[in-house]
Amino acid sequence: MIDATGRPQSVLVLGGSSEIAQAIVDRLIAARCRTVVLAGREGVRLTEAAKRAKAAGAEVVETVTFEATNVEHHAAFAESVFERFGNIDLVIVAAGLLGDQDDLEGDPAGAAALITTNFTGLAAAMLAVAGHMRRQGHGRLVVLSSVAGLRARKANFIYGSSKSGLDAFSQGLGDALEGSGATVTIVRPGFVIGRMTAGMKAAPFPTTPDAVADAVVKAVQSGAAVVYVPSTLRWVFAVMRILPRAAWRRMPA
Ligand SMILES: NC(=O)c1ccc[n+]([C@@H]2O[C@H](COP(=O)([O-])OP(=O)(O)OC[C@H]3O[C@@H](n4cnc5c(N)ncnc54)[C@H](OP(=O)(O)O)[C@@H]3O)[C@@H](O)[C@H]2O)c1
Repeated sequence: MIDATGRPQSVLVLGGSSEIAQAIVDRLIAARCRTVVLAGREGVRLTEAAKRAKAAGAEVVETVTFEATNVEHHAAFAESVFERFGNIDLVIVAAGLLGDQDDLEGDPAGAAALITTNFTGLAAAMLAVAGHMRRQGHGRLVVLSSVAGLRARKANFIYGSSKSGLDAFSQGLGDALEGSGATVTIVRPGFVIGRMTAGMKAAPFPTTPDAVADAVVKAVQSGAAVVYVPSTLRWVFAVMRILPRAAWRRMPA
């Protein structure tokens, strides 16, 4: 159960090896989160994330297999996690692929796979998890969306549109859960300097996994519904969204 100060005791991460999610989990464990369930694709990164959570002091750390595109498995996946670990206070939706827009424009199947990973696969998983949160009467889903989803840019519209879908779905899910005790927080980072963006030129107002993690922990405690990281991006994108299309089209890559 979330304690009196709003600190989760148990967390499930969809995309357990995500760099941003690991920074969030570090902070949750430091604030006495005891059970950490890392769901992801089997491999060294997931194993290393589990070792890191254990070393940080979590009492129970488990990895479970989660492939975002396996939508037909998500109901059984959620069922088994909630049955095995009991109440889950926090679910972090962190799986995601950035992809290479130039390659994807010539690879429709690859583009569809990325969109399934970032949007439809996660949407199915979130519905499955939300059903359990509704039944337990509490819990928060933290969804790592992106400012890229607020208005698709020609240089990354495949990733951007997948995040638009995820973001809109999360807003609707949050509204649908009203009164159930379960809630949704949407996190919209800008360019995060880290593994996903390695080798790329940073966009304006770059941030870090640690800064995103700090903002998420604050939002979990305050109950914020939408968070921008850095917070300046809220105002930057209020303008970006209404720029005339001809100007938006000329935005640099
Ligand atoms: N980095 C940024 O600039 C940035 C900005 C805004 C939003 N975000 C979002 O923040 C989230 C976390 O990103 P990050 O920076 O932490 O990147 P990351 O370290 O590359 O993490 C991405 C995660 O997604 C997992 N994943 C990818 N495809 C999957 C699939 N088909 N099934 C299950 N898991 C899958 C990866 O697992 P594997 O280890 O198995 O590959 C990894 O755990 C993503 O949703 C991303 O879009 C990132």
